[in-house]
Amino acid sequence: MRPFVLLVASVAALGGLLFGYDTGVISGAILFITKDFALPTRLQEFTISVVLLGCIGGAAVSGSIADRIGRRLTLFSAGVIFIVGAFVSALAPNESVLLIGRAIVGVAIGFSSVIAPLYISEVAPADVRGALVSLYQFAITAGILGAYVVDYAFAAGGQWRWMLGLAFVPSLVLVAGMFAMPESPRYLFKTGDDARARDELARIYDNSAQVAAEENSIRDSLRIRAAGWEAFRAPNLRRALFIGIGLAVLQQVTGINTVIYYGPQILKMAGISSNSASILAEALIGTVNCLMTLVAIFFVDRIGRKPLLYAGLAGMFVALSALAYAFAQPHLSGSLSAIAIGSMMLYVGCFAFSLGPIVWILISEIFPLPVRGLGMSISTLSNWVGNFLVSQFFLTMIAKFGTPATFGMYAVLCIATIAFVRTMVPETKRELLERVSLKAA
Ligand code: BGC
Repeated sequence: MRPFVLLVASVAALGGLLFGYDTGVISGAILFITKDFALPTRLQEFTISVVLLGCIGGAAVSGSIADRIGRRLTLFSAGVIFIVGAFVSALAPNESVLLIGRAIVGVAIGFSSVIAPLYISEVAPADVRGALVSLYQFAITAGILGAYVVDYAFAAGGQWRWMLGLAFVPSLVLVAGMFAMPESPRYLFKTGDDARARDELARIYDNSAQVAAEENSIRDSLRIRAAGWEAFRAPNLRRALFIGIGLAVLQQVTGINTVIYYGPQILKMAGISSNSASILAEALIGTVNCLMTLVAIFFVDRIGRKPLLYAGLAGMFVALSALAYAFAQPHLSGSLSAIAIGSMMLYVGCFAFSLGPIVWILISEIFPLPVRGLGMSISTLSNWVGNFLVSQFFLTMIAKFGTPATFGMYAVLCIATIAFVRTMVPETKRELLERVSLKAA
């Protein structure tokens, strides 16, 4: 792979780093915000979830914006919105301004969760596309881990403003980086700027035969006369949309963010009583999440998307079943606690090399170029709605149905996801991007 391609993907992946950081950082900051602004429980919850509402809004509009003004400018704008959001949140004189700041940050996350994987997928050569989009997932997990570390570092002084404000640094790098990055060759062909598009393809591929093959397949894809919502009336595009929404929702309803957002609470229920031990265990889970993504980077273009999904989902099923079993016992201590904590690690580790990265890869691959932005927007929007519902109702579900039944339900949904992947999802490894979307559609 050319260093240029890796550079482009790494700059775009900063969008993922900020996604992870800004969703993770609030768990530590909220303790001190609550104290400073004397927040009642309802406002505490809203301070946490307002970011997800912003994400839903940002994801909803960003795809059509990227289809209109280009991928590069849209991701650049996401960086600018991140900067504004970091400042408003960090300097907020009161709770209302803080809520506005967090909503702005949410919009930026929504933008980058659509555009970063889409842009990476469009500049990546076919044989490393999976690895490069997995790099984006790696950045998300690094951002989450970075947020835990920053929260820990500023916790002693209760400096929540620094926790929220530090997102400014990677945002600035994203803005400066995207300023220097090229436009996606696909977008250039779409807008008829063929000469520049060919130049960009020549920077991505080693030889002219590969450039020609890509150009041909892009032209084929552009022959689909489709634009806007109407396009999804066609049965083939409706199917692609069904796959995109299905994968995006299943990534959330199999429960990952219960562990990411409520880790310390679950660990407490699992018998880790001291605060510092539960923070340490949470940091360990964050590390497993980050490191296991490397497995996807290494294997996703070699053995393919579907085998990794099957392996990861099977592991998640086993881990969730063990977790449900441990929580079903009358007293959770000793070896049962160890089983519960080990299961959480196994669960996160398996997600990290399968459903985590591969959903982003697939939804950036299956839509034909004329409606790629829109299709990705709708899928990603569904992902954020799923995230919002699961994280809002996790504690309520535990109170209503009990912990074993809650984790048991996520386990069953892992099996449903295996069935969905088997019946609906095409294998896309090493195929030219537009061939994939034509096949899926
Ligand atoms: C998911 C996020 C999740 C993260 C965990 C991402 O792929 O979309 O909801 O928090 O992975 O690593």
